[in-house]
Amino acid sequence: MKGVVLAGGTGSRLFPLTKVTNKHLLPIGEQPMIYYPIQKLIGAGIKEILIVTGTDHMGDVVNLLGSGKDFGCRFTYKVQDEAGGIAQALGLAENFAGGDPVTVILGDNIFEQNLAATVKNYSGNGAQIMIKQVQDPERYGVAELQGDKILSIEEKPVNPKSNFAVTGIYMYDADVYEVIRTLKPSGRGELEITDVNNYYIQKGLMTYSRMEGWWTDAGTHESYRTANELVAPSTGKGS
Ligand code: G1P
Repeated sequence: MKGVVLAGGTGSRLFPLTKVTNKHLLPIGEQPMIYYPIQKLIGAGIKEILIVTGTDHMGDVVNLLGSGKDFGCRFTYKVQDEAGGIAQALGLAENFAGGDPVTVILGDNIFEQNLAATVKNYSGNGAQIMIKQVQDPERYGVAELQGDKILSIEEKPVNPKSNFAVTGIYMYDADVYEVIRTLKPSGRGELEITDVNNYYIQKGLMTYSRMEGWWTDAGTHESYRTANELVAPSTGKGS
């Protein structure tokens, strides 16, 4: 199992905080945002980690993270030339993965649960996602469930079929790159990770688990503030 942290995008929802830097370099509590997903991968025993980000701030990302020696892991870096979506960014991991399955974390997902057991439970075939009940499902990919089956995922639906958000923690086998090559850009001009996940669902190759503990993204001013509160040592909920 290898790890991928996706840290690209324009961060437009956090403007002007992201006017001169990358969203994932902003502080959350006492650490840069990108430290959190990296620590989650390392906590799951994953030591080979690819970081994908855009051209604008790759230099800063490399300056911050280095080789991985300070974290006890090994970093590889890949440039995403334009902000073409999460699935496009994941497509850049093909050579790095070298046929191994990957655990992918969106660089702005901040959460409590240790991933070791979840990664261990994943068979390495097909895909696995993590879902979490939220108050505002329309902001996310939303899972339609029937018993312990997942029927479909809708990206940011106006009328969500459940309040289970699909979190930004995904596991894929080596077929994912073929799937990504078949995708067409969505209405927002991006290759959507939700389209990748629906492909696996339709093939009967998707499993899911429910995320325990707190979870938030940090991509809007409101959720960025929430993330800062959740990791604050004084709340007793720290990382
Ligand atoms: C992305 C995904 C969405 C997922 C969310 C989790 O949304 O497209 O399905 O629920 O991450 O953070 P974005 O933050 O790119 O709008």
